Amino acid sequence: MSEPDVKVFATLEEASAALGERVAGQLRAAVAERGQASIALSGGSTPRRLYETLAGGEVPWEHVLVLWGDERFVAHDSPASNYRMARETLLDRIEIPPEKVRPIPTDLPRPKDAAAAYAAELEVLCGDESGRGEPPRIDVILLGMGEDGHTASLFPWRDELLENELWVVASRAPEEPYERVTLTLPVINSGRWVHFLVAGATKREALRCALDAPRDPQQCPASMVEPRDGTLTWWLDAEVAEGVEVAAF
Ligand code: 6PG
Repeated sequence: MSEPDVKVFATLEEASAALGERVAGQLRAAVAERGQASIALSGGSTPRRLYETLAGGEVPWEHVLVLWGDERFVAHDSPASNYRMARETLLDRIEIPPEKVRPIPTDLPRPKDAAAAYAAELEVLCGDESGRGEPPRIDVILLGMGEDGHTASLFPWRDELLENELWVVASRAPEEPYERVTLTLPVINSGRWVHFLVAGATKREALRCALDAPRDPQQCPASMVEPRDGTLTWWLDAEVAEGVEVAAF
């Protein structure tokens, strides 16, 4: 992987606008190249403005497969649902065929059932045609990062970090909602254009750990995101980036 590109903006608003433009361009390029594109959305609260920006961008959504990087194992109409957040800020504001929107199912008996079902869906939707069983190559992967350095629903010191066969697994968060479903690192690191959007002083420590590559990567799962044959870009606000050595602002 080439060195990550680290971009710092005065505010989250500005970072979201710039990332929204970049993602819209990447989706257009992928559609122009292959007739289709795929994007995996992140959850939490940071990306809300990004999704609103994307909703107003020039994107051929009829050719874009919308996936999720992770989900809380709650009903899709729960306030904690990543699907619900994306629906409110993006999906309800764009014209997109329903079949292009593929949320992680949370109406199955257990998170591991949802993980298996989503992995099977990924196989069909964007599996590796060569039949070698390579992880799906999602064009755009959006990621956030928690104060503990977690990303998607891959939390520090958990076994899911070491998963290198399964593409989607159940995981457990240290805070409510505990039960999660998440893409694994093999899929995330197969992304073509992988983006972190991180903001706020509370994440400064985690950012430093992620960018400095900790002695034990499991301390900071975000540091384990290293796209094998793709790009990694950090989109930061000035608050989180304060004191972080950044090559170019
Ligand atoms: C989730 C996310 C998670 C999120 C971080 C940051 O399901 O919560 O996918 O990885 O990106 O927890 O969340 P905030 O943006 O709310 O700080």
